[in-house]
Amino acid sequence: MSNDQANWKFETKQIHSGAQPDPVTNARATPIYQTTSYVFNNAEHAKNLFALAEFGNIYTRIQNPTQDVVEQRVAALEGGTAALLVSSGQAAETFAVLNIAEAGDHIVSSSSIYGGTYNLFKYTLAKLGIEVTFVENQDDADEWRAAVRHNTKLFFGETIGNPRINILDIGLVSKVAHEAGVPLIVDNTIATPYLIRPLEHGADIVVHSATKFLGGHGTVIGGVIVDGGKFEWSKNVEKFPGLTEPDPSYHGASYTTVLGDAIAYIIKARVQLLRDLGSSIAPASAWQIIQGIETLSLRIERHVENATAVAEWLEAHPQVASVNYAALPSSPWYTAANRYAPKGVGAVLSFELKGGVEAGKAFVDNLDLFSHLANIGDVRSLVIHPASTTHSQLTPEQQLTSGVTPGLVRLSVGLENIEDIKADLAKGLAAAAAI
Ligand SMILES: Cc1ncc(COP(=O)(O)O)c(C=O)c1O
Repeated sequence: MSNDQANWKFETKQIHSGAQPDPVTNARATPIYQTTSYVFNNAEHAKNLFALAEFGNIYTRIQNPTQDVVEQRVAALEGGTAALLVSSGQAAETFAVLNIAEAGDHIVSSSSIYGGTYNLFKYTLAKLGIEVTFVENQDDADEWRAAVRHNTKLFFGETIGNPRINILDIGLVSKVAHEAGVPLIVDNTIATPYLIRPLEHGADIVVHSATKFLGGHGTVIGGVIVDGGKFEWSKNVEKFPGLTEPDPSYHGASYTTVLGDAIAYIIKARVQLLRDLGSSIAPASAWQIIQGIETLSLRIERHVENATAVAEWLEAHPQVASVNYAALPSSPWYTAANRYAPKGVGAVLSFELKGGVEAGKAFVDNLDLFSHLANIGDVRSLVIHPASTTHSQLTPEQQLTSGVTPGLVRLSVGLENIEDIKADLAKGLAAAAAI
């Protein structure tokens, strides 16, 4: 990357990083490289690619030129060294953990996370022999510290929690993680790198569901892992043998020795986990994510403007008991929001209706503009009742520790005209009041 490119501002990076006119056809936009495999120049070239002596395309399960543009772009936007694009956000969460934790290991996670990630950690990782301690109050450094064991491999949290809209104190939690000799992995889906760049505050690895704001249009599923490149795996040889010791499945290479600390983590995730687990993204999906990222800052600015207006309006409404949106002065995370997300806290907010579950159902059933569905980060406004949907596989106690109360409604505020958005919400609130 040239110095100019490294110094580009966010708006320029989101359009140009990682892409250039196609060298064969001169096509300006990145093509969809719809191919499974790539011809080797000769036997020596093939050997070098397999030996990691040279980087290049081998097979689309492991890499693809369209995917590569997304990876370089998100790495540039987050300020990381490299990235890996996979088939979904859940695949990204899974890879981020399995890349450094295995049977017999332990991880520490905030409990205030997306229900799907909670399930993955609590049940599926347990089946794989990885134990998880959930921290109930992620703002309490002592709770994180007390959870650490000799076999702890990582800390995990969401920069903006879904659906509590709490702001992770990345500086505080990364400090405790680093004292324990482990990296902090954060899910930055709701914030996007336009609002929070976690690597600048001490996080080590960033994960995204690209399905949400990166894709942006509710049309594609994908996930990204970004390597911050600063965590010194090679100084923790005993803790991270998968990165530092010879990998028998890869010619006996040690990733940190061959590649260095800055990209060892992300290359291992690609050449080992993606090779073996196969959660690769389709080239057409990667291409759609490129289209989304090109307008990320513009969309997020409008999302923030609309969501802030909705949060303020809801808070003043007699039918609403409370609103979770960290940009509101009433939020316990208002100060943290000003520190970590001064440009705004995104499009997702949740609120408690007076009247509990029944009022919540009447509200959701009487909206027209808002679509009732299980997603966030669309141009369209979306609504859901988490207790009966996204978080329904959790027990009532687990729901509460994830911030999901029975009458909680979650909104992902879209890019429609704010007057139309408010008019629709007013209809739902009137229906909730009538029950
Ligand atoms: C914060 C967060 N992380 C991860 C995911 C999982 O992503 P995906 O649905 O792309 O697998 C979601 C999905 O809702 C999410 O909201």
